[in-house]
Amino acid sequence: MVRVAAAAAVVVVVVVVVVVVVVVVIVVVVVVVVEVAANWTEPCNDHWRNPEALTKWSNIREVILGIVDGGVLIKILRFKGAALTVLLLILDNQGEQSEYFDLFHSGKQEWRLAFRGTAKAGTSVYTAYLNGTGVKPNVEPACMGVDWRGPCTSHWRNNDALDHWKNIDQVLFTVIYKGEMVKTIYFSGEGTTYMYWMDLDHYLRSCWDDLEMGPHNFFSITGDYGSQRHFFINRNYGGCSNDAGWVVAIDQPKKTCPWQASDAYPVFKFAGGPKYENWNSARALEAEAIAVFLKYKKLE
Ligand SMILES: *[C@@H]1O[C@H](CO)[C@@H](O)[C@H](O)[C@H]1NC(C)=O
Repeated sequence: MVRVAAAAAVVVVVVVVVVVVVVVVIVVVVVVVVEVAANWTEPCNDHWRNPEALTKWSNIREVILGIVDGGVLIKILRFKGAALTVLLLILDNQGEQSEYFDLFHSGKQEWRLAFRGTAKAGTSVYTAYLNGTGVKPNVEPACMGVDWRGPCTSHWRNNDALDHWKNIDQVLFTVIYKGEMVKTIYFSGEGTTYMYWMDLDHYLRSCWDDLEMGPHNFFSITGDYGSQRHFFINRNYGGCSNDAGWVVAIDQPKKTCPWQASDAYPVFKFAGGPKYENWNSARALEAEAIAVFLKYKKLE
């Protein structure tokens, strides 16, 4: 029933949209709170979006789509019930289309870039992800996309994606090496928060055969906080020379462990082969970047 109603509502919305386009409307406004005190005759050459109203979209009983022509509100469409649900899903799309990428050439731009950590950016990748501390004010365009060979010297945090974490179907963690996305780990988005999805409970699949089986002594974004090892999926400790795992983002040196030493931070290490690696091994490679993508649930 709900599906039928939703499908009918989709048809209604599509018809409305087509009509709106055909009639060559001057301005279309969505009035969330019915306060039509606006002066429609004043000059205005831009769109306006109320970020507060749209991103914290909740407890809405009714939405009005108004059409302005000749300085007057000439049409009003009220959305309630099932039609409202459909309209909300359409209006409440997550972010800009430019934040979405067709990572696997599936023909669908369905993966939204939520975060990029850049090796040797000079600031903590952990706080960059946590709350944006250490993300440069004006990052290069390549930091916000998937041109992995383009110049990028900063982390990048998609604040909207991470701060409004909802309707997430899957989270994809990726490792970038020599300009290519070489490793992927998929997690379910169900029951997650932006800080808690990198764990065995949400693990779906990855490029590493033995990752699921473990064992693991760390499997989280926070990781080993004291040792500055984050986005850390580790198999075992055993003294520095025996430390082994799959992936780690190192924010700072730890004097006692040679494998953590570098001339600049952060350093991203990953097991280059299909199985875990000893962090001291030459097969534990250093990545240029790590990136987190989100796929949202769709209206079925
Ligand atoms: C970000 O998090 C760090 C670490 O918890 C904290 O020291 C810092 O004050 C936070 N910054 C902001 C802007 O919230």
